[in-house]
Amino acid sequence: MSIRILATGSYVPERILSNADLEKMVDTSDEWIRTRTGIQSRHLGAPEQASSDLATIAAERALQKAGLTGKDLDAILVATITPDHAFPSTACLVQKNIGAAGAFCFDMAAACSGLIYALQTGYSLIKATPSIYRRVLVIGVEMPTRMVDWTNRNTCVLFGDGAGAVILGLDEADNGPDFLVASDLHTDGTLCDLLKLPAGGSRAPATAETVANKMHYIHMEGREVFKNAVAGMVNSSRAALERAGVKVEDVRWVIPHQANIRIIDAVSQRLGATAEQVYTNIDRMGNTSAASIGICLDELAEAGKLSSGDRVLITAFGGGLTWGAMLICW
Ligand code: UT7
Repeated sequence: MSIRILATGSYVPERILSNADLEKMVDTSDEWIRTRTGIQSRHLGAPEQASSDLATIAAERALQKAGLTGKDLDAILVATITPDHAFPSTACLVQKNIGAAGAFCFDMAAACSGLIYALQTGYSLIKATPSIYRRVLVIGVEMPTRMVDWTNRNTCVLFGDGAGAVILGLDEADNGPDFLVASDLHTDGTLCDLLKLPAGGSRAPATAETVANKMHYIHMEGREVFKNAVAGMVNSSRAALERAGVKVEDVRWVIPHQANIRIIDAVSQRLGATAEQVYTNIDRMGNTSAASIGICLDELAEAGKLSSGDRVLITAFGGGLTWGAMLICW
């Protein structure tokens, strides 16, 4: 029996915010945003929507494609840094919504690397105890637009909301390779200040002062993050490929985290990946943090652009700093 990706699903909210809309809100231009980031529009959650709502729709879509229901799941892992609440976890709320009473559920916080961290964890759970954990729902969901200062052009133009779901499971009829061929995950907590949400946790609980000082918004040292992102994703991707004994030209798709088209181009160029191999949707989605790779995977699957046995290299980085890469066999 091998551990396979049984299905994917995704969801982005209906409302679209264009660069032209942003031009009316802050001192920016469509030209600056497109050339410096590659983003043309992004999706924004409706006022009544929270991360668990987005995650639930993505999960339902994946379950439907897999021919499963919530009752078939043994665990739910939600990667997010924009949970509905500090607790209960967003995974608990998804469990309730999809009727997955038999699943144990928890959130993982690894910022934009969240989906890769969660895929590794879900895989390890099944691999270690296949008699107990046979099917694991992994979701990357994010509403970063709830955490940005809409008067700060440095950050508000970058992000979008969305969710991507992946169902991992034992395939009894399949004796081929596991979906996870090789991975390489890293963390450097000494760089924790480069990308953070300063207040709202136990370090600085919410007060009138923290609100007045805008400490509940995403703070980012853009250029430093950029440099670390390129180096981290390139090194991890090379390490994962080397572990697998696979050359980049033998990979069907490279899916880098969608944070900035210049980061994606730099990573692709250094890896020697061709433009045809690299999948991007940053122009339509912006940076959806932990959701980005899941949405990309689902778009490719929906478009019929993934065949059984295709090798897919996914790589991400984010606040923490966290980063990593994973070679997947579809
Ligand atoms: O998923 C992880 C999350 N974070 C990231 O991935 C972000 C990584 N970093 C980046 O993507 C880029 O650093 C940014 C897109 C954030 C910024 O691009 P940059 O090329 O590094 O620009 P910069 O910060 O060096 O700013 C260049 C100029 C500045 O003006 P001055 O000081 O040269 O006069 C900024 O004030 O661009 C200005 N600027 C803008 N201008 C128009 C910054 N944001 C904007 C904007 N519109 N939205």
